[in-house]
Amino acid sequence: MEDAPIPIVLDVDTGVDDACALLLAATHPGLDLRAVSCVGGNAPVDDVVRNTLVALEAAGRRDVPVARGADRPLLEKAVDARHVHGDDGMGELGWPTAPTPADPRHAVELLRDACRSAAHDGMPVTLVPLAPLTNIALLLRTYPEVAQGISRIVFMGGAANVGNATASAEFNVFHDPEAAAVVLDAAGDLGIDVIMYGLDVFYDPVVTRAAATELVAVGGRGAAELGGRLITFQCNRLDRDSATIGDAGAVCAVIDPTLLTTRPLPIRVELAGTWSRGRTIVDLRDWSGDLAHDPHGEAPTRVEVAMDVDGPRCAELWRQTLLSVGRA
Ligand code: RIB
Ligand code: CA
Repeated sequence: MEDAPIPIVLDVDTGVDDACALLLAATHPGLDLRAVSCVGGNAPVDDVVRNTLVALEAAGRRDVPVARGADRPLLEKAVDARHVHGDDGMGELGWPTAPTPADPRHAVELLRDACRSAAHDGMPVTLVPLAPLTNIALLLRTYPEVAQGISRIVFMGGAANVGNATASAEFNVFHDPEAAAVVLDAAGDLGIDVIMYGLDVFYDPVVTRAAATELVAVGGRGAAELGGRLITFQCNRLDRDSATIGDAGAVCAVIDPTLLTTRPLPIRVELAGTWSRGRTIVDLRDWSGDLAHDPHGEAPTRVEVAMDVDGPRCAELWRQTLLSVGRA
């Protein structure tokens, strides 16, 4: 008997690669996309909501509720990454706004309700944050009981090694370090398992320009065409023959956990460092530990850190899923 589709909820700052993740989450038969919450990040939150609705329209999923969340980090000023994702946040493709309105609830309320109904149904969701963690921090601190409806958190963020927003920090965590620290602390308190899909694997699953052109050729303003145009935008921006599917890799890891190699490692978020603020400090030391001489001691929180990914298999999963949309 086939396994039941995995209930999944995404938190996004759509974003070219968030859109790639949404297209996969909305169309893969092994997933049951229950809700999408939006947060400011790659683009201002209202652009994120608009872009998210466009991606779900392309995927034929007007049924999935989308809600507007935090428009700025808990403490930091809001910045964006439009130099990476285009002025509109989604590759400046000029696609029409979706006819579907956003859900009237705040994103934290939508997340709360999705988790509560999941708990009631006895089918906890996999929560997949692909953006700054502001909404998730607010959710877990305001409604801790939602933990009963969350089977695990698979988040794109952080890095065991180098950053991207700075030499030291990855964009989602750098954008709202306090939120990231709160989420890791709350997840530990509430007993929620966490997988960190960080920069150590983020760039590995890539799709070629030629494969993107094949997706675009499907046409019809569907998931395949949009996915192809997003990859092509990044290939053109970087003047390269391939581009990462980014956030979509985290969704691939939900579909097929064998794609990832993870290690359970202690982790902290640097909040105070001048040059290291927003760094996820992953303790890679493999000695048995003479922590008595380590003034910091072992971090109270351990997460499964993705240290390797089968990039080609991951990218192929994304590409084939989009190509198969609409085929019997
Ligand atoms: O550092 C990469 C992350 O920042 C991705 O989620 C990308 O969409 C941006 O939000
Ligand atoms: Ca993102």
